[in-house]
Amino acid sequence: MATIAPSPSAGTCGSLSHEGRAEPCVVVIFGATGDLTHRKLIPALYHLAASGRLPNTTALVGFARRPLDDAKFHADVLQTARQSAPRSSRAESTAAFADTRYVASTFEDPAGYETLGRVCAELDARHGTGGNRLYYLSVTPSEYTTIVERLEAAGLISKEAADGTGRGWTRVIIEKPFGHDLASARELNHALGAVLREEQIFRIDHYLGKETVQNILAFRFGNRIFESLWSRDHIDAIQFTVAETLGVEGRGPFYESTGALRDMVANHMLQTLALVTMEPPVSLDADAIRDEKVKVLRAIPPLSPNDVARRTVRGQYGPGSIDGTPVPGYGQEERVDPRSTTETFVALQLAIENWRWAGVPIYLRHGKRLADRQARLAIQFKRMPRLLFGRNGDGLQPNVLTLRIQPDDGISLRFNSKVPGREMEVQPVEMDFGFSSLGKPVAEAYERLLLEAMGGQATLFIRRDEVEAAWAIVDSIRRGWDAMPPPQFPNYAAGSDGPRAAYDLIARRRFAWTPLVPATPRGSPA
Ligand code: BG6
Repeated sequence: MATIAPSPSAGTCGSLSHEGRAEPCVVVIFGATGDLTHRKLIPALYHLAASGRLPNTTALVGFARRPLDDAKFHADVLQTARQSAPRSSRAESTAAFADTRYVASTFEDPAGYETLGRVCAELDARHGTGGNRLYYLSVTPSEYTTIVERLEAAGLISKEAADGTGRGWTRVIIEKPFGHDLASARELNHALGAVLREEQIFRIDHYLGKETVQNILAFRFGNRIFESLWSRDHIDAIQFTVAETLGVEGRGPFYESTGALRDMVANHMLQTLALVTMEPPVSLDADAIRDEKVKVLRAIPPLSPNDVARRTVRGQYGPGSIDGTPVPGYGQEERVDPRSTTETFVALQLAIENWRWAGVPIYLRHGKRLADRQARLAIQFKRMPRLLFGRNGDGLQPNVLTLRIQPDDGISLRFNSKVPGREMEVQPVEMDFGFSSLGKPVAEAYERLLLEAMGGQATLFIRRDEVEAAWAIVDSIRRGWDAMPPPQFPNYAAGSDGPRAAYDLIARRRFAWTPLVPATPRGSPA
């Protein structure tokens, strides 16, 4: 495999972000004692603060039910941060935030919001945070509406903030799922829209914070050779796999009501696909990019019941082994119904009905407990006529461009080369570029996204109409599934490469999934 070295003269030509220009503010985390806060938010905020990328006046307020006080919350933050901080930032990490405060309250109780208001006012007075607030709702989605309504009732958020009233800005970050289907997403959007302007709502999708996902824009619109081939005239099929070796990791009840389609396809996968297939935006502004994303999402027609039967596959893992360690099936996971019909695997064939993509099949595949962890897009180009090389041109494989989102982030291109010797024999070879060759650390997605929100940059967040366009697609699949007899689960073994039906689906048009691990046996029910 040939490797491509970076050219020494890097140029910056436009920016997707205000990175490095976060404004002083008070960050309030609702659900401050929860899992996401410990795994992602505290480590990300702490690392940003300790490495000097946040203003040193940044204050942190935790808001949760658990009866902690300021000192205990501070100790908890320190412990979480120390466990996750890179060695280099540990020394100075005790003083990363200007202040750490805690409000113990339910999310319903107005008194908790009054206390929060007092605490934030004190922090403004002490640290000059100027009324700027970033509210992070790290809670179950059913609590979003209550929290924003209580915040508004207490005068802590307003649509007017940041428009010259001198009271500072207020922004709210929410985590997926943004509703459960189109109807509930509309309801949620309506409730948020009643108290916030769309520019104040930051719907986080951590895939958009991944460097390799952002690189899709640079790659597509910074390279003439690829962009000029980027259409149905030259591309035969697109496939996108997000495979995980992890199972549901103690999140049984959440997963039971969500499933693979809603958990990954409705957001991460459709968002990434939109970046790969959208038209060139007129600028790198948030709305210019999001306008193009929503257009392409709307060009994906909802699936009819017949399409669902022919173009979708769902799966659920049975017992098996991952890296040689036996693991239980989904039905045996903690707090999961042993007869559950929730899917842990999904494979789809979608279409994009526009001038650029009409007729090009788009294959998506995602599953838990598969043979390998990887997120990869493979763009398969049309074949050359098989006239010149080898016996009937047998050795002539189509060109494939692979965008590796994780791990081993990078891009590779498969093309055909002559094999040295007297015969005109050709064989496929690969050119490879690894992100690591740029010699810069790759920022963690949450760090990047938090900085963007603090700088008021919404490009990497999902807009209301994008959420609704994605649900229209996903709902049509769910409706089709609900109308069918329940599937025979489990239908793939943990540690395999998924159900056989997923292979049949893609083989119908004579394509094949990129193997997860070369020469992995196909999954069969355990
Ligand atoms: C989350 C899903 O949004 O993304 C999880 O809820 C999934 O089920 C995770 O495991 C995958 O993220 P990543 O960054 O590890 O690919």
